[in-house]
Amino acid sequence: MVEFTLPKNSKMTEGKTHKASSMAKNTKIFAIYRWDPENPEVNPRLDYYEVDLNQSGTMILDALMYIKDKIDPTLTFRRSCREGVCGSCSMNIDGTNTLACIKPISEIKDTVTIYPLPHMPVIKDLVPDLSMAYEQLASVEPWLKAEPPKEGDQERLQTPEERAKLDGLWECILCMCCSTSCPSYWWNGDKYLGPATLLQSYRWIADSRDDHTEERLDHLEDPFKLYRCHTIMNCTNTCPKGLNPAKAIGEIKKKIALKKS
Ligand code: SF4
Ligand code: SF4
Ligand code: FES
Repeated sequence: MVEFTLPKNSKMTEGKTHKASSMAKNTKIFAIYRWDPENPEVNPRLDYYEVDLNQSGTMILDALMYIKDKIDPTLTFRRSCREGVCGSCSMNIDGTNTLACIKPISEIKDTVTIYPLPHMPVIKDLVPDLSMAYEQLASVEPWLKAEPPKEGDQERLQTPEERAKLDGLWECILCMCCSTSCPSYWWNGDKYLGPATLLQSYRWIADSRDDHTEERLDHLEDPFKLYRCHTIMNCTNTCPKGLNPAKAIGEIKKKIALKKS
């Protein structure tokens, strides 16, 4: 019989509380998911950190760096550019997948709760294992596939109209906020490619310089790879770059339908 209870080691426990100095006048509490792979038998916990906002900076990532530098060096998370370009600092903040470096602390009224991106295996604390998502991305060959330019003709020209078709696609930073917010990806992530990979695939399907459009569409025409998208729109609602992966998926479906008609 199917069992619908969570495994014992998936239940969250209460962790440690780190109080700010009594001198701090402007504080906020951050409740942060912690899990240590070196003690896998110990359940994940929420640790509470009281942060002096006059010392920490204005963005969620600033607060995380402050916690790591000044309060608890064991806290683990990814980050690099700190300006919404590299896609490393994606996490679930206050119930929404977003980028910690461009999320102002002031937008969250009460305690700031931070979890790793949902439904991914956790490597440690706020670091999810995105290996499968990257393998899926590689499977759509997200690069220009075209014959080499003829000798003496080194540029592949596009009209302004052709170039404009890439707007809303090239800006994707592969943070995976969209895929990890998608219920279809939660339940069928091993077979459904998810919105981030599908948007990347469409970025090359829409590129007039690419010679492999047919082959790319054939690769996606599959009940699981593409058609697990049920237009729930979580992906578009969560994208911190304001992109619309659901629309890109719709465009792929449209092109496949046109090809068959
Ligand atoms: S579409 Fe948006 S949310 Fe999805 S990976 Fe790209 S930037 Fe991130
Ligand atoms: S629109 Fe499709 S890809 Fe986006 S959240 Fe819904 S099911 Fe997932
Ligand atoms: S640190 Fe690069 S996107 Fe946040």
